[in-house]
Amino acid sequence: MFKRIAFSVNGKAFNFEVDIRESLLEMLRNRLGYTGAKKGCGAGECGACSVLIDGIPFDSCIYLAVWADGKEITTIEGVASKSGELSEVQKAFVEEGAVQCGFCTPGLVLTTQAMVESGKEFTTDEIKQELSGHLCRCTGYQSILNAAVKSLEGHTCTCVDSPHYIQQHQQDRIEER
Ligand code: FES
Ligand code: FES
Repeated sequence: MFKRIAFSVNGKAFNFEVDIRESLLEMLRNRLGYTGAKKGCGAGECGACSVLIDGIPFDSCIYLAVWADGKEITTIEGVASKSGELSEVQKAFVEEGAVQCGFCTPGLVLTTQAMVESGKEFTTDEIKQELSGHLCRCTGYQSILNAAVKSLEGHTCTCVDSPHYIQQHQQDRIEER
């Protein structure tokens, strides 16, 4: 069974039919060529497939493509500037040595980007909590944490009243459905 959906990826509009069983990850990688989102576990455990949906990180391997109808998707391909200059978050990951094989990096960069754009203030423990859905086999995590902290420096306000902002929004979005 197929359903027509309209959505955007990195600002580019799409409108076509998708198999209702198809995951967003399959659609992005196999049909649209956005291969920055990786397939690790395929079960919502590793975060390698993370993309932003209306600014909130989701595991695209367990998000059906049909649910993307009307949504704005951001993949790692949409993070750097059009001229190819890395984003501040990407630069922080490079500077802190938070990238080795790179398999986990797109998801971690996007989740960090979402934290930055939320404008919220995060403690170190809260940053760890927000990144806890991402597994990395290479770096040992300290450099990733350092990169996230560096990314958030100068981008936070004191208006936070809710820890774990991103997980809460993700949960809200799942319950809406
Ligand atoms: S591939 Fe989606 S969470 Fe692991
Ligand atoms: S850098 Fe290799 S899995 Fe994270």
